[in-house]
Amino acid sequence: VDKNSQRLTIAIQKSGRLSKESISLLQACGFKFSLHEARLLAHSSNQPVDLLRVRDDDIPGLVMDGVVDLGLVGENVLEEVRLERKATQLACEVQRLRALDFGQCRLSIAVPKEEAYNGIQDLDGKRIATTYPYLLQNYLQQRGVAANNAILTGSVEVAPRAGLADAVCDLVSTGATLEANGLVEKEVIFRSQAQLIQRPEPLSAAKQAIIDQLLPRIDGVQMARE
Ligand code: PRP
Ligand code: ZN
Ligand code: MG
Repeated sequence: VDKNSQRLTIAIQKSGRLSKESISLLQACGFKFSLHEARLLAHSSNQPVDLLRVRDDDIPGLVMDGVVDLGLVGENVLEEVRLERKATQLACEVQRLRALDFGQCRLSIAVPKEEAYNGIQDLDGKRIATTYPYLLQNYLQQRGVAANNAILTGSVEVAPRAGLADAVCDLVSTGATLEANGLVEKEVIFRSQAQLIQRPEPLSAAKQAIIDQLLPRIDGVQMARE
């Protein structure tokens, strides 16, 4: 990605819960893209706009570092990366432009259904498997609970059965994954939906003009869906 390019670069999730809706929102706003499965970068054919398709976990950092101009990402990932970068003294500022009407989910603590649970204190000294160690530790610290993390990048829901952890802290949308793994949701620690974010420094007039045109279109598309 050329940082001095006059083309506005938007990072979206390559494959996952937000991908389809991210692309359809941008298309509904009038941007035309031809997407090739294998390509990371897609140029718009009718606007000076490029789409960069990456892992959702990478989107906040790319925006915070100013490598891309805009990003569409879940607040869960945004907040986790912000906490992590703050702790490690990396740039962690973004401008939040819009909350988007998709990607709703929650980050929750769940325990095996056969385990008694009388409150968060029960997790003191236990091990919790998660992909979100910063959000989890933040929540536990505020409540004076000292639990250990088992940090996994996937398959968090099988950790208790595999003997890796006593509980999980994972994203829940329908609840089907927890149910299928004999886990019961006990604490909601963060509620999330997709967000449109922008890098912190001012953009060139040309790029800003595209965003000024995009935002009312997003509002229009979201209003029409209500
Ligand atoms: C999340 C989570 C579960 C699933 C829960 O993964 O890790 O696997 O969704 O959804 P459910 O309650 O509807 O069953 P997701 O695909 O969002 O993200 P990831 O690929 O970044 O882990
Ligand atoms: Zn992810
Ligand atoms: Mg998952």
